[in-house]
Amino acid sequence: MRPRAPRGVLPGALGLALCCLCGALGPWRSRSHLSAKANIGDHGWKKLIMVHHWPTTVCKEIENACSDPPDYWTIHGLWPDKSEECNRSWHFNLEEIKDLLPDMKIYWPDVTHPPNHSHFWKHEWEKHGTCAAQLDVLNSQKKYFGKSLDLYKELSLNSMLQKLGIKPSINYYQISDIKDALASVYGVIPKVQCLPPRQGEEVQTIGQIELCLTKDLQLRNCTEHGEPRSRRWGDAWPARATDEGPGLEVCEDGPAFYPPPKETNH
Ligand SMILES: *[C@@H]1O[C@H](CO)[C@@H](O)[C@H](O)[C@H]1NC(C)=O
Ligand SMILES: *[C@@H]1O[C@H](CO)[C@@H](O)[C@H](O)[C@H]1NC(C)=O
Ligand SMILES: *[C@@H]1O[C@H](CO)[C@@H](O)[C@H](O)[C@H]1NC(C)=O
Repeated sequence: MRPRAPRGVLPGALGLALCCLCGALGPWRSRSHLSAKANIGDHGWKKLIMVHHWPTTVCKEIENACSDPPDYWTIHGLWPDKSEECNRSWHFNLEEIKDLLPDMKIYWPDVTHPPNHSHFWKHEWEKHGTCAAQLDVLNSQKKYFGKSLDLYKELSLNSMLQKLGIKPSINYYQISDIKDALASVYGVIPKVQCLPPRQGEEVQTIGQIELCLTKDLQLRNCTEHGEPRSRRWGDAWPARATDEGPGLEVCEDGPAFYPPPKETNH
């Protein structure tokens, strides 16, 4: 997909390109290795949200001069939708995920505070992991972080975006084009979040892409049929310098900036 020029030129071959992709990728939901035995029951939450964020936007959000943020989408977290901090006595223990560290550092970095990522991982575990742990498949730190990494790799958002031709650009995308393109490859409606335009900016900036899963770890729509969309993001960045200023919100329909990573001079 080509980003639209700021004045809004429609990329003509979009529909065609997406259609070819649908066939090539096949229906996503039928992949059996995504399924896993899960403990079904009402634990106060109904879906898991696999949250990917765009490091360049994270750095912009917290106004941190990140050095060399990754130029690919990384994991923010795997979040149950309606609960937080379910067990405050279940402390984060880096030892338990020692085997996962090489992957964690690549795919789940704290883009704002490298090289020490543990503060971020601790936050994600204590706020979200302790709730996700109500499922048997996620009921330890090793399982929670390990399964999140597996899901991230299987969902393969970076290569999907690449195949769809959605690349960082100085031109703007239409949010509906991005959502439709993702829906066509995953077969479900994603949620896309943006930083609202700041002073002097024309448009919102893409920051997060969420894909939602059932308790059986099957892809599902992020919104219920007819559910009003919620505006707020649902998680404050743990290390945000101040609470001032707008954080991420569900993107408005219309144009959005998908910012290229900043060139850094060494
Ligand atoms: C909370 O976590 C601790 C430490 O893992 C565990 O011993 C305890 O059973 C958990 N409590 C609940 C209510 O799950
Ligand atoms: C990294 O951060 C954690 C949590 O804030 C802290 O306990 C740990 O000592 C730090 N590790 C290093 C190597 O600085
Ligand atoms: C997901 O959303 C699409 C579009 O609104 C709808 O057609 C489809 O039935 C939904 N799927 C489920 C499982 O609710």
